[in-house]
Amino acid sequence: RDPGWTEWADVIVVGSGIAGLTAALRLKDQVERVAVVTKDVLQAGSTQWAQGGIAAALGEGDTPDQHEVDTLVAGAGACDLEAVRVLVGEGAEAVRELIAWGAEFDKDPAGNLSLTREGGHRRDRIAHADGDATGAEIQRALMEAVRRAPEIMVFEHAMVVDLLTAADGGVAGLTIHVMGEGDADGVGIVRTRAVVLASGGLGQVFSQTTNPAVATADGMAIALRAGATLRDLEFVQFHPTVMYLGEDSRGQQPLISEAVRGEGAFLVDWDGNRLMEGVHELGDLAPRDIVSKAIMKRMLDTGRTNMWLDARHLGGAQETSAAFWERRFPNILASLRSHGVEPSVDLIPVAPACHYASGGVRTDLWGRSDVPGLYATGEVACSGVHGANRLASNSLLEGLVFSRRIAEVLPGELRQLEDPAPGAATGRALVPGSALKTLQETMTTKVGVLRNATGLAEAVETLEQLGRTPATEIDPAAWEATNLLTVSLALAKSALLREETRGSHWREDFAERDDAGFAGHFDVRLRDGET
Ligand code: SIN
Repeated sequence: RDPGWTEWADVIVVGSGIAGLTAALRLKDQVERVAVVTKDVLQAGSTQWAQGGIAAALGEGDTPDQHEVDTLVAGAGACDLEAVRVLVGEGAEAVRELIAWGAEFDKDPAGNLSLTREGGHRRDRIAHADGDATGAEIQRALMEAVRRAPEIMVFEHAMVVDLLTAADGGVAGLTIHVMGEGDADGVGIVRTRAVVLASGGLGQVFSQTTNPAVATADGMAIALRAGATLRDLEFVQFHPTVMYLGEDSRGQQPLISEAVRGEGAFLVDWDGNRLMEGVHELGDLAPRDIVSKAIMKRMLDTGRTNMWLDARHLGGAQETSAAFWERRFPNILASLRSHGVEPSVDLIPVAPACHYASGGVRTDLWGRSDVPGLYATGEVACSGVHGANRLASNSLLEGLVFSRRIAEVLPGELRQLEDPAPGAATGRALVPGSALKTLQETMTTKVGVLRNATGLAEAVETLEQLGRTPATEIDPAAWEATNLLTVSLALAKSALLREETRGSHWREDFAERDDAGFAGHFDVRLRDGET
């Protein structure tokens, strides 16, 4: 492409996981030109890594009301009830549409969906595919559906740099850098009347995460710079059972699905004591924040870097543990074996690691942000369904349900833009990619699972200091580091302000949940370039 190239689309969807591709498929027949823009290849986002499954009231005797109760309990008093009702009420139908698009879920011998259980659920309501590769199957089906729809334009290896806004403050386009097309000269413009952000989470804020390398908070940062509000950023979920690979292991870490505990595995300490006994009525299947805290507490009390998952007995009387693992969790098994662990014989070393951003771009029940023409769905969004701690397997469902809702309202809300449309880019100073290591270490040690005022204040200071060292080169690493820094600062400041322990936000110095003094949601906006 020539430097300064221009394209146009009625709607641009940023991101290509379950939320992005669902939005594109549902919009394609309703608007003239839909484009999907993705930073890597179509399948590179978080969806393909989802193991356990997708939750919905699909089983006999299960109801949206019961799913609602479990979601609200896990969310620790910080969910928006209306949003949760939308999620659980429309969930089953949305999953059926996914099946109609070609996603194949596992079935029981009678041909019904095979449903399992994960933490915080009081019923078996998790649909899964290929045992433990649910996300990969959903991603495959959606990508094939998109390929059957040539009217959807796809831009791969295309990083969104910024949103462009029109005179009304609403969306008018995007600046995009196509990877491999030089430095800032490679930035082109896609003019558009609406943008659906479906760009995933912020896992790379921390040194260890289950998220892939592309999860660099880009959507949250560009939305904030364009005037949108971010909400609930301090509620970052740490998954309890991430395989522990040693202190020096960085980046994406192997997830051991909660479904493994759903099938009977349990946590033990170094002396073989059951960790979750007496901690919660649901034991090893307590909501995720409670299990992560129990593991961390035992790690801190004993000075250990990890605890253990015992899954040697799975399979029961019907089959050997080895056969069970091969059948039910073939991908996790392969991953464990690649690290020298044979789960039918060995204990699995685990420790909590960053897994999911419950907060994000604040939206209403139809995925609208407060910037005209800007919608958000999936992990990048904060629709209010997760509160302070997302219920297991509600994430894929959220992307599905809210993307369908966006597609219902967006075509009727497309604004008329004057021609030529885009205003000035919402530009800003960049930090170098080399800032990332300090950023991640600071966030991990001071804004991680267990937080206190001193550490959080130090983190804010270090991050502000990082922001004062400008990048000398403009490149994707600088854009990503800048996005991560913007969101890290907002997250650390929100965590400092929330003086209680609630859901996944755990304060050493305010150890109790404070319902009487509950401060509600924390919204983040930019003022004079500062969060
Ligand atoms: C898991 O399989 O444990 C992850 C499911 C989720 O994050 O909801």
